[in-house]
This record gives sequence, structure tokens and C-alpha cells, in this order.
Amino acid sequence: MLRIAVIGGDGIGPEVTVQGLRALEKVAGKLGVQYSVRQTPFSGERYIKEKLVITDEELADLRNNSDAIYLGAVGRPDVPPGVMERGLLLRLRFELDLFINYRPVRLYPGVQTPLANKTGEHIDFVVIRENTEDLYCGVGGFLRRGTPNEVATQEMIATRFGVDRCLRYAFETCRSRNKQNPAKGKKLTLVAKTNVLTFAHDLWMRAFTEMGTKEYPDIQREYHHVDACCMYMVAKPEMYDVIVTTNMFGDIITDLGAAIAGGMGVAASGNLDPTGKSPSIFEPIHGSAPDIAGQNKANPIAAMLSMAMLLQQTGTARKDAKLVQAGDLIEAAVTRVTPRFAGKTFDRLPMPTKEVADLVLAEL
Ligand code: IPM
Ligand code: MN
Repeated sequence: MLRIAVIGGDGIGPEVTVQGLRALEKVAGKLGVQYSVRQTPFSGERYIKEKLVITDEELADLRNNSDAIYLGAVGRPDVPPGVMERGLLLRLRFELDLFINYRPVRLYPGVQTPLANKTGEHIDFVVIRENTEDLYCGVGGFLRRGTPNEVATQEMIATRFGVDRCLRYAFETCRSRNKQNPAKGKKLTLVAKTNVLTFAHDLWMRAFTEMGTKEYPDIQREYHHVDACCMYMVAKPEMYDVIVTTNMFGDIITDLGAAIAGGMGVAASGNLDPTGKSPSIFEPIHGSAPDIAGQNKANPIAAMLSMAMLLQQTGTARKDAKLVQAGDLIEAAVTRVTPRFAGKTFDRLPMPTKEVADLVLAEL
């Protein structure tokens, strides 16, 4: 039994998760996958009404009684910045110890990229973003706040343990991609800033070199500074196979990655605990888009691909081939639908949310 907790959230979140759940229902019926779904109330809406984001008991319940979490989007304009981010998204990532943020950058057939003369052959890599350390830890403080002599610090944390477990996952991902497609999978690129961040990123570089040399001699290693990486992602995205990077840099370069792969309408992500101890969280990269909420305008593809990823990743973690197959079926159905929108912008498709999802369901 696969127990899925759904955090529909705010804005377009609930609308798009509904479509991902329809895809799940269809493949599960086909393959005989047993699952249960329960909706949870965590949202900016709840915060406005109850001044509450999530209680300790609710968090423990998610941890103990679900196998995967499917998240739409949280946040509304009347909730102050940081409340939902720190109070829900980051809290779940930290407390569930979801140390990998898995973000494929793949240009599906027919999806428009702003890059000239680039196709799916050129844009097909995955970014492994460390998800529990770095500038996201919330370590820092103020001195003399609000005075002309104010000081604010925000510390960048890198632990050998945190870096090693992220690197290991990245090397393994590279190896398994290599198995699936020997022509493509071959190289792991570390993206950091060793020339300036001479402590934290020195640790990253040493750990990368040591682990690569000792345990993954079959994987080619490459290092790029993050600024150069931004340039290459635009000019020569075909250079990349698997990128491993820090939390903050990963946040930034994966928005760039989403842009070159067709935008927020198609970008999916997973916050993973590869050990399988905690439920992983799967979510489209896009936000709650309050400006188009409730108008049946949101593109459900990113949420449907996030459902595909939920099944593929949970299946891999549990060694359940049927789940992986269910995820693969959804992803394949999406790739048969995207060519119909060739030449269109994927952020806002000229077709209602449900009809786009219907096309995917028909392919299933
Ligand atoms: C993301 C988001 C989050 C992040 C925010 C909402 C906390 O931008 O998932 O990329 O910075 O990680
Ligand atoms: Mn982000």
C-alpha cells in the first residue's frame, strides 16, 4: 500500500494536484497499484484563518503515516514572506531530513525553449541540490538591528556528513543514468565557488575528489564555478549530465534550468530522503500563482510530472518495479502530449487545465 498525503495548498496548487491524482488513479487501475490518498489543510489560507502553519503532532503524523507527500503550492499575497517558506516547506525538508532536492532539466518534445537551435538532445540533465545545509540553515543574527550601525550575518554551513551523503547520491544517480543510456550518462559536474568560498567549498571540492577517486572511478568528474555554469546552461547545456551543487546555488540554477526547459509549466521536483526513512515530498517548482488561481488556466503538466516522479522515486526506494513502471507510464504519456503544443508557451497553455490533463489521461 502506498500512502500519499496531499498538500494542495493555495492558489493553483489544489487545481493542479487534482490532475496529478487523476493520472495516478488511471495508472494504478491499469497496473493494480494499491494506494490511499488523504488531503491535508496546510496552506496560507489556514494560516490566515488560524494563525497556524503546522503543529508538531501534524508533522509527526505525516512522518509516521505517509509514504510520500504530494504538494501543489503554498503561499498567498496576504501572508508575510517567509511564513510558509520557513514554517512549512523548509521545516518539512529539515525535520524529515530530505537531504536531496532532485530537479531534472529536460526539454520534452514540442516544448519551446528560449535557447536558439537547442532540442531535447541538448537539454537533458539533472541537478542534485543539497537540501538541508548551506545558507538555508537559518544560522545568523542581528546586532543593533534597525540602527544605522546595524550588523546582520547569515552563515553558510557545510558539514562533511551532509556533503558526503549528497555527493554519494549524485554519483549513484550518474551511474544509474549511465546504465539506462550509456551514450549520455557519464559525467558528474560539481558546481560551487571554490575561488571565493575558500572554506565551505574547499570542503566540497575535497570530498568530491576523494569520493570520486576512491569509489566512482568510472564516473568522469568536472568542476564549474557557479557563474560559469549559468553561462554554459544557456550557451552549451549539452555539456551537462548530472550536476551536484549546494542548496543556495541549486535554488538559483534550477530556476534557470526550468526556464531553458520550457518554464514553470513543466518543471517538477522531488525533496528526497533516499534512505526511505521519511516520506519524500514531490512538487512542481512553480508557486501558487494567485493571479490565475481558480480560472482553470494553470498548466497541470508540472504537477503530473511530479506525480510521475513520486511513483518513480518511491518505487526505486522501495524496490517496487510496479510503482516505477506507473511513474514511467505517466511521464511517457506526457511526452506524447507535449508535441501537440509545439510553438506554444508552456507557462500558460491556450487550453483549460482539465483539458490538458484529459489529453494525458487519454494517452494513458
Ligand atoms: C524552491 C523554492 C524554495 C527554496 C523557497 C520557496 C523556500 O524557491 O523550492 O526552489 O528556496 O528552496
Ligand atoms: Mn527556488
